Amino acid sequence: MSRVVVTGRVPEAAIEKLRAEHEVDAWPGPESIGREELLRRVAGADAVVSLLTERIDAELLDAAGPQLKVVANVAVGYDNIDVPACTERSIVAANTPGVLTDATADIAMGLILMSTRRLGEGERLIRSGQAWKWGMFFLLGSSLQGKTLGVVGMGGIGQATARRAKAFGMDIVYQSRSDIDPEIAAELGARRVDLNELLAVSDVVSLHCPYGPATHHLIGAEQLAAMKSSAYLVNTARGPIVDEAALASALRDGRIAGAGLDVYEHEPRVHPELLELENVVLLPHLGSATVETRTAMAMLAADNALAVLSGERPPAPIN
Ligand code: GLV
Repeated sequence: MSRVVVTGRVPEAAIEKLRAEHEVDAWPGPESIGREELLRRVAGADAVVSLLTERIDAELLDAAGPQLKVVANVAVGYDNIDVPACTERSIVAANTPGVLTDATADIAMGLILMSTRRLGEGERLIRSGQAWKWGMFFLLGSSLQGKTLGVVGMGGIGQATARRAKAFGMDIVYQSRSDIDPEIAAELGARRVDLNELLAVSDVVSLHCPYGPATHHLIGAEQLAAMKSSAYLVNTARGPIVDEAALASALRDGRIAGAGLDVYEHEPRVHPELLELENVVLLPHLGSATVETRTAMAMLAADNALAVLSGERPPAPIN
């Protein structure tokens, strides 16, 4: 029997699955486990099932000890894990790709609709109690049909967002490290371009790339200036891909029309200027937040941990 530490609350089915084979120490929450408590609890763990809010770095891996075999993140993004530090210590790192693709693409499409059709503004107006009535020019947004969606990072979530946007009548361009499956490109009518062209031609730019040193502030003042002044930026990937201060000024000065954000540069803090602006929709990192998706993510993370503990390659390894 091995010792599995779960760093935050996850659906019970995953805990039961782990408990059927191993001793499980699961942080009960609801608050996040503090760093000191986390370092204390991981000592002697054979597996750590981690949430994206916990930093899994060399200090933590050393605090766990040399018996640690696997870190299974309950997320597809793994910028919270120092993967080279895991590899150096022969620790397998794993994530949860696939199971949250549709849920996250739904939120991206939701943000595209919310920002272009000014749904957040409309909702806030009604709740404010201010007088309003239907008017020919009241809260006019911008239609999606015949417009271009630029997808930055054409992995599973980017493709799923493109599929939804196509169903709304949008044309698709994408920027990606590699070409996608030609059949999927043909189905979506998607054309691969470089980031400069994507920024210049897109009416909506949606971010779906992983976060890391190569994508830190990928979208900054210069890139925002390269977008059409009528365009919108949507981010459901990771906050620091966007220079939030530059985005706030671009939105304030009307250099782009609007934005929809689910993630933030210094999460959970939101840049104070964004909070003052009407032309940005702000969601609290809800990309994968459905009962079904969170359950599937936790089960996949449990499967990753269980596989490594029984000497097998996990279903979704990172390293
Ligand atoms: C959520 O943000 C994830 O990476 O799974």
